[in-house]
Amino acid sequence: MSPPEAPTIRGIGAALPGQLITNAALVERLDTSDEWIVRRTGIRERRHLLESETLARLAASACSAALADAATDAAEVDHLIIATITADRLTPGLAPAVAAQIGADRAGVVDINAACAGFLYGLDQAAALIESGRARNVIVCGAEALSRITDHEDRGTAVLFGDGAAAVLVGPGAHERAIGSFAFGFDASLEETLYAEREERKLRMAGQQVYRHAVARMTEAARLVLERNGVSASEIDYFVAHQANARIVTAVAEALGVPLEKVSFNVEWTANTSAASIPLALAAAERDGLLAPGSLIGMVAFGAGFVWAAGITRWKDNLTPPTRSS
Ligand code: ACO
Repeated sequence: MSPPEAPTIRGIGAALPGQLITNAALVERLDTSDEWIVRRTGIRERRHLLESETLARLAASACSAALADAATDAAEVDHLIIATITADRLTPGLAPAVAAQIGADRAGVVDINAACAGFLYGLDQAAALIESGRARNVIVCGAEALSRITDHEDRGTAVLFGDGAAAVLVGPGAHERAIGSFAFGFDASLEETLYAEREERKLRMAGQQVYRHAVARMTEAARLVLERNGVSASEIDYFVAHQANARIVTAVAEALGVPLEKVSFNVEWTANTSAASIPLALAAAERDGLLAPGSLIGMVAFGAGFVWAAGITRWKDNLTPPTRSS
């Protein structure tokens, strides 16, 4: 085992599928309007996988882009963790195929399911692997094709979900614990408000109940994480809450006292992509010049279970050479 090191995000990559679904396209076949969707959800468009696309291929694009961003060879990857609830097959999971496609030939490969909180669970596990010295390069990828489990005839949910993938490479950083302590929670008594049955394979949701709990639990978890890490909301440079609905994101940010100009509203362009939502939002923020090395980022997610998670990270605290020979 290598000596313990402080984990950081060293690279990021994102991939969106080829089929663009605008609100206007939904209005053509559902009893809805662009005005309703934008006002109630903040969503303008979402992407769906084309028939010719697989989620493994999309995830592989995101993972390869994250490796390129970190100037790290796929052969150096120790573990590939994919958070998803919509893998191409019931089994195997996505991770073996993705590792093969990107050339991560000696990686440990695993899929995890914590619904919309999956990426943050993966990030915590990756940080622990680096901290313990058990690994030096861990990819965490959120990849979803929610279009596969959406009831496309139900206007209450069809407008909400999209497909996408994004990945980060976690490795040793220069400073102490760029990725801080997380907070996790669950409430299984509310499972019936958000689920998909194995046979029906459609997301069913009691929207208003999910909304209320999402705001309350994400706010609590984010407060706990700030306290655990000894930082205040005013120190947060950028805040990414699970991109389910712009009103939920706004309510959580306002409860925490984070100004909205520091908050991601990537949901506008991707809709809700479950486990892919947070890394897609981070990739978009970096692309738009909103993140600098060392920026302090707050992240919080909530989804089916209910499960929720929150964490903080410094952005790309990236000075230590990543290779095994270093
Ligand atoms: N277009 C037009 N009208 C609609 C639509 C639509 N697409 N969908 C619902 N409506 C109607 C309803 O039928 C209802 O009509 P009624 O008053 O005649 O009965 C009216 O709009 C209001 O419906 P509500 O459900 O009260 O609308 P609300 O403002 O709560 O918004 C929404 C619904 C967007 C689903 C919201 O509740 C929400 O975002 N919930 C949380 C979703 C979420 O966070 N999911 C996260 C986890 S899921 C995951 O990540 C995989």
